[in-house]
Amino acid sequence: MEQAQRLQAIPPYPFAEIARLKDRALAEGWDLIDFGIGDPDLPPPECAKQALASAIEVGPMNNYDESSYGLPAFLESVSTWFGERFGVDLDPKGEVKVTIGSKEALAKAAWAYIDTGDVSLVPTPGYGVYTFNTQFAGGEAYAMPLLPEAGYLPDLDAIPEDIAGRAKLLYLNYPHNPTGAVATEEFFKRAIEFAEKHDILICNDAAYSELYYGHEAPPSILAVDGGMERAIEFHSFSKTYCMTGWRLGWVCGSRDGVAGVSRMKSYVDSNVFPALQQAGAVTLARGGDHARMVRDVYQSRRDTLVEGLRSIGWPVDPPQGTFFVWAPSPKGMTSADASARILSEAHVITIPGSSYGEYGEGFIRFSLTLRADDVEARIAEAIARISRLGLSFG
Ligand SMILES: Cc1ncc(COP(=O)(O)O)c(C=O)c1O
Repeated sequence: MEQAQRLQAIPPYPFAEIARLKDRALAEGWDLIDFGIGDPDLPPPECAKQALASAIEVGPMNNYDESSYGLPAFLESVSTWFGERFGVDLDPKGEVKVTIGSKEALAKAAWAYIDTGDVSLVPTPGYGVYTFNTQFAGGEAYAMPLLPEAGYLPDLDAIPEDIAGRAKLLYLNYPHNPTGAVATEEFFKRAIEFAEKHDILICNDAAYSELYYGHEAPPSILAVDGGMERAIEFHSFSKTYCMTGWRLGWVCGSRDGVAGVSRMKSYVDSNVFPALQQAGAVTLARGGDHARMVRDVYQSRRDTLVEGLRSIGWPVDPPQGTFFVWAPSPKGMTSADASARILSEAHVITIPGSSYGEYGEGFIRFSLTLRADDVEARIAEAIARISRLGLSFG
């Protein structure tokens, strides 16, 4: 059966191609060092595992959670955590909704708000889900270039008036995949002014909010004046607590915005397994030490990788957040050529920046989530292998 036009019209999901190449290399017995997909190698917090096990025992957990936004214990735990972390007072009744991780909810925001001919403003390079789902919903994704010289923040003044006039959603993502950039409160303030002027709902993807390096934790857009009226923010247990497979997150912020996503979800899925929600509530209350440990581990890996790449002449800036290192492509090579050569000759997996949209060209992405007994030693081994390729930079 032929797939729908809307599905045929878009390219394969980027990681599918990487997974295919990786399977082939593994089948041929290569010793791969994998800086590919951003899926944490570290374990989830003990408190999460124990809370899940006991929630299943205590039950009854086997039925639909028929509440409209999620279990009260989960929503209250999010509200408490949010207040402590960001100083934002979220009403657990109406300003928070449990989600199946953040990906599906980011997608459903497009389905909830975009009609044929409407526009979503999307960051490029960026996570493709914003673009693809806008297109599925019949809308148009307008690519906002994120440039290194602007700190990877979009220039909202450069958006043409007619595009801004048709825009209903502004997707942002800080800390940012793939560049590792972090936004300032000043930028969020500017984004809110822009959204007010053009009557736009801001969707801030904060899946990496707890992965930052340095003293200052990144802000929430909801903490900025007007944020609670103009924005919704998407959070996730995936990256902070190394729980990607658990599929747990939440959307919060503007009551209307949360209601829109929630209404869309009610036609497509049902609330997350109640035992997982219970475990999530405990994790937010007790997982702070784990999140600190995770940050320390990635910071050390980040420094090893960045220093190692610099030692072979590769001019790389350390990311301020996320577990990604965004490195300029070697001289004279497209990002796809660079990643392919590094894979075929050094047996090191990276992701070409072109997978993240037009403005990702010219860069390749390393994820610090590699699996190995001694990760730092594997990073050093990857640098040694790459240095033997004799690539030139800058
Ligand atoms: C920017 C960004 N947002 C959202 C997600 C989705 O995460 P999850 O659905 O596991 O919460 C990812 C996953 O890679 C991501 O990179």
